[in-house]
Amino acid sequence: MLTIGLYAPVQEQLEKSFTCHRLYEAADRDAFLKKHAPNVRALATFGKWGADKALIAALPTLEIIANMGVGVDAIDLDESKRRGIIVTNTPDVLNDCVAETAMSLVLNVLHRFPQCEAYMRSGYWATRGAPPLAAEAKGKTLGILGLGRIGVAVAKLGQAFGMKVRYHSRSKKKVPYPYDSSPELLGKNSDVLLIATSGGEQTRFLVNAKVLDALGPTGYLVNISRGSVIDEPVLIRYLKEGRIAGAGLDVFENEPDVNPEFFALQNAVVYPHVGSATNETRLAMGMLQVDNLRAHFSGKPVLTRVV
Ligand code: 8YV
Repeated sequence: MLTIGLYAPVQEQLEKSFTCHRLYEAADRDAFLKKHAPNVRALATFGKWGADKALIAALPTLEIIANMGVGVDAIDLDESKRRGIIVTNTPDVLNDCVAETAMSLVLNVLHRFPQCEAYMRSGYWATRGAPPLAAEAKGKTLGILGLGRIGVAVAKLGQAFGMKVRYHSRSKKKVPYPYDSSPELLGKNSDVLLIATSGGEQTRFLVNAKVLDALGPTGYLVNISRGSVIDEPVLIRYLKEGRIAGAGLDVFENEPDVNPEFFALQNAVVYPHVGSATNETRLAMGMLQVDNLRAHFSGKPVLTRVV
């Protein structure tokens, strides 16, 4: 069963190998679930569509949930574990793409490229002169909150732009970057604080007023993880009041219904969750999702198991 339509070439592969029931096309979701549940052994899902407790409960013969995406915060992992349902995700294949997005956000928020472009398109260059001066990455400290596989890829790009890298993670890692023992300390020591943690309850509001105070009025915040990691109303207030210099955001709470206050902020650069949204990477993610399903149904171990 599919919770949502997938990238077309991936869905084509899925439909070649499996009988697919499209939950997202059902006019009456409950009736659809009731009708097909006895035959459903696998769920293919994508990011925020996940699989909550109610959906898992409606599928009593479910064996595997295959997610397209590395983040599994929208899947009820406890319930999956309890039921012995395998959960897979798509790690690694998206690292470089998401790191490119992260670095683009860093450069965009520092150089104010979107604001400069809007200024130019409004005809202001000729009427008002050059836009205000910006900031550059070189020589600045990039603090990475959550040095997982994506965080490491971002660190390498940051270094290529002459940034000094440091990090905070749940545990210290064998990496050549200085470790800060808390998000606050990392914020204090960073010019650009970049969130690359996983989402979910464990990291909810990890970036709060204390961390933003530590980052301070010359600091920038970039988020390519999940909106839930930031206390959004606090971030909006801090951006409005100039208590941090700016933010570059690819992710939000309640996507795609983003708090419209973000759109009015001149010091925020906003992307519509496009971290992995390229043809190349979506194909790689989707094929890994399909390969996990194919492995499971040919009696082999899945490739990238979460639980
Ligand atoms: C996807 C992501 O764009 O992999 C993830 O966890 O956040 C992105 O790659 C997302 O899953 C789609 O909403």
